[in-house]
Amino acid sequence: MPRRTLPDFPWDSLAPYRERASAVPGGIVDLSIGTPVDSTPAVLQEALREAADAPGYPQTYGTPDLRDAVAYWFARRRGVPGLDPAGVIPTIGSKELVAWLPTLLDLGPGDIVGFPRVAYPTYDVGARLAGATPLPVDALTALGPLTPSTTPKLLWLNTPGNPTGKVLGVEHLRKVVQWARQHGVIVASDECYAELDWRDRRDGSIADWAAEPPTTPSLLDPRVTDGSHEGLLVCYSLSKQSNLAGYRAAFVAGDPALVKSILEVRKHAGFMVPWPVQRALVAGLSEDAHVAAIKDRYAARRALLKPAVEAWGLRVDDSQAGLYLWSSAGEDSWTTVGRLADLGILVAPGAFYGAAGAQHVRVALTGTDERIAAAVTRLAASPA
Ligand SMILES: Cc1ncc(COP(=O)(O)O)c(C=O)c1O
Repeated sequence: MPRRTLPDFPWDSLAPYRERASAVPGGIVDLSIGTPVDSTPAVLQEALREAADAPGYPQTYGTPDLRDAVAYWFARRRGVPGLDPAGVIPTIGSKELVAWLPTLLDLGPGDIVGFPRVAYPTYDVGARLAGATPLPVDALTALGPLTPSTTPKLLWLNTPGNPTGKVLGVEHLRKVVQWARQHGVIVASDECYAELDWRDRRDGSIADWAAEPPTTPSLLDPRVTDGSHEGLLVCYSLSKQSNLAGYRAAFVAGDPALVKSILEVRKHAGFMVPWPVQRALVAGLSEDAHVAAIKDRYAARRALLKPAVEAWGLRVDDSQAGLYLWSSAGEDSWTTVGRLADLGILVAPGAFYGAAGAQHVRVALTGTDERIAAAVTRLAASPA
């Protein structure tokens, strides 16, 4: 008997719908997975190529200039000045960090790991890999009166959220941090969609847009933390902002003491980011123009797809940021997946992201312009 239970890998259950969608004349429009489809920008390819001669082992901790580049990026893009570069480690994409963080923090049986009720499945997986207890929880009040055995050791936030696209504001983050400090809880925020925030700063949705950083508020923002990063971690990835998912380029940053203890385990376990990828990470964090171009491209696709999905009869909830339209027809998500597959459009059922997502589907913006246009035409031609 295995001692560990992992959930079934859900994507296998989409296979029949993929077949159905592929049989539609004109071919499938696959909007089920958030994998970038556009080219990796030249500036990053160049950085990778230039570092191709790499006979020695790379540093698990990353080079000092990589850690400095992360600190500077936080100051420039996220409104987080003064991040201590000692509190940064490159990771092999964010997914491995999410999957192994509870283990790296030495959590285990009896320890609770909290994460959003509708969420990227790897938070749950990470708790299970450590032998800890996964706990989907939305509001802190849902935890009830806390005792040492019911207090989470680690709480995951995901802002902007996958699949919902929900952005957590400064006040929300601040409340979570204050609560976590009171109860000795480590908070880790997964912010890999932070550069893809669609809220228009000029429409009044952000009061003082000139004073705001250009991205989603970070857990490490001084307005959230009062300046101390103790007990706080943020993970970030270049997969989405830089079309770099194939490189596996990401990092975790925050409390230097926590980062040091994570680093010790990573050194023993061989969690090293390849040297050419470390160089690409530095290049990608130091140049903003390619990120703006990628954001513009997704914004244009979103401007076509969102009204088309709505006119077809889906309600789009949250989705203020990120690469998805979190959409509902008020019916079981698999029914919507089937109806869209009949149009040749493949989307992910909300049920993949927790029981609370059972009436939603996740429609990704990660199609080429041609495929997004095909989806829009098909939706318009086939009112639900
Ligand atoms: C919320 C969230 N976290 C982490 C990841 C993993 O990103 P990567 O491993 O490519 O850095 C994803 C990928 O889709 C995601 O949606």
